[in-house]
Amino acid sequence: MTPTTHSANAIRFLLNGEPVTVDNADPTQSVLYYLRENQRLTGTKEGCAVGECGACTVIMNGNAVNSCLILASQANNAIIETVENLEQDDVLSKLQEAFVEEGAIQCGFCTPGMLMSAKALLDKIEHPTEEQIKEALEGNLCRCTGYIPILNAVKKAAE
Ligand code: FES
Ligand code: FES
Repeated sequence: MTPTTHSANAIRFLLNGEPVTVDNADPTQSVLYYLRENQRLTGTKEGCAVGECGACTVIMNGNAVNSCLILASQANNAIIETVENLEQDDVLSKLQEAFVEEGAIQCGFCTPGMLMSAKALLDKIEHPTEEQIKEALEGNLCRCTGYIPILNAVKKAAE
């Protein structure tokens, strides 16, 4: 079998548990761009593209990050999780269930980012305080202003 060869400027990372190699990657492009345009994972949203809204939040190496601000070169050898990884075998995660049950989704544009910020928190702190939840979500804007149900949903998932 011929070994697969990749370009010198290939970027490799683990995406939702699967190894990914992007050949001829433009190191100045954002991770958000490669997730949506190269990997076709469009669950991660582009809102402001300048780090202000949190719609593009993914978990990278255990931390919630704005993927619009992370350069592709910074993702080399990283472990990245996107919202697509929350549902497993057609079953919603406890966090997603809580969002549905609490009515925390209106237009849904902010939801993937909210979910990933909340997941990064719950991965670190199983039972966070309300203050810790608010702090974790402070970089995520909801243009439908449904903040209370979102807060309640994260509290419920943490119960
Ligand atoms: S799209 Fe990245 S923070 Fe708004
Ligand atoms: S539900 Fe519409 S932006 Fe948050």
